[in-house]
Amino acid sequence: MWVRNAWYVAGWLPEFAPGAIHARTIIDQPLALYRTADGGLAALEDRCCHRFAPLSMGRLEGDDLRCMYHGLKFAPDGRCIEIPGQVLIPQSACVRRYPVTVRGGWVWVWMGEAAADPTAVPPSLALDDPDYRLKAGHLDYAAHYLLIDDNLLDLSHLSFAHEKTLGLDMPQWADERPRMLTLERGLRVQRWITDHTPRGFLKKQVGERADVWNSYDFVFPGVFLQRTSFYPAGTARQSGGQEPDRPPLFHRIDEQAVTPVSARASRYFYAAGARASDIEADRLDRLFAVTETAFGEDKALIEGQQKLIDLEPERRMLPTSLDAGPTRFRRLVEDLLVSDGAPPAGVRSASP
Ligand code: FES
Ligand SMILES: [Fe+2]
Repeated sequence: MWVRNAWYVAGWLPEFAPGAIHARTIIDQPLALYRTADGGLAALEDRCCHRFAPLSMGRLEGDDLRCMYHGLKFAPDGRCIEIPGQVLIPQSACVRRYPVTVRGGWVWVWMGEAAADPTAVPPSLALDDPDYRLKAGHLDYAAHYLLIDDNLLDLSHLSFAHEKTLGLDMPQWADERPRMLTLERGLRVQRWITDHTPRGFLKKQVGERADVWNSYDFVFPGVFLQRTSFYPAGTARQSGGQEPDRPPLFHRIDEQAVTPVSARASRYFYAAGARASDIEADRLDRLFAVTETAFGEDKALIEGQQKLIDLEPERRMLPTSLDAGPTRFRRLVEDLLVSDGAPPAGVRSASP
């Protein structure tokens, strides 16, 4: 059961090279995406209406796409505009067209029947934003997307799953609960990590001790926009637990998006970096390498978790106070499913 009326990330914009047809699957729907002459993107159902051959195996002819089984040709809006050897083109000769927009570094596709609202796309950074230095990648998971969302909504795991990488010397991730605010389609999660001991180049940049302000927005289906700001130790107390209104010594950026492919497949897009004035290219390479190692740690745990869930889907998990974020988010997903017209699918259960 999928939420359809939502924007989903199909990929990083540079993945969609002009002149080629790119096959992607989002919520079990096969898509064929390609660039049009005006610099935009078309997204059509990857299934010819004639005999269901994949359109991604077809050929681009200008802005049109020809199915290379029997030659039906489609405009970027999905209308069939040519049937070889036949003059009359019935109105029913069309494939579904999906609204597409490019925002930040990502290509977003609206999978719903209701009118697409471009203002509902979360405000991510572009990879080539001159004020930041970012590197990007993606990972394919053999797991339901909500297990990845659970992971991102509960960063207590940094202290354990990433004890040698992202959570190095930071037991506070697990020991202290963050503040959570409700957003229209997600949650805002904020916390201070106080009296942190930076290492490596960060030690040179921010000093021996630092207070770290961590804030992220997490929006359906799994868009994670995080800012981590390093301040001199003592700042958390001085600012009364709020975000300071002065620039930090170091400003790290993490932007990620989880896209459901099918019930047991998801694609995880990520970018990591910092303010351009904070980081040189070689430092960014190292920061990104540690980040990718950490994502491998998550993937191993989550895929292992998925296998165990599927072994005995009826087994109940043990709720703890760590699960507040995932629990609230799953409730929101149920609400979105209901507003889409679907009966609640029990996404709060262990077996999504
Ligand atoms: S299946 Fe596409 S033209 Fe026949
Ligand atoms: Fe993680």
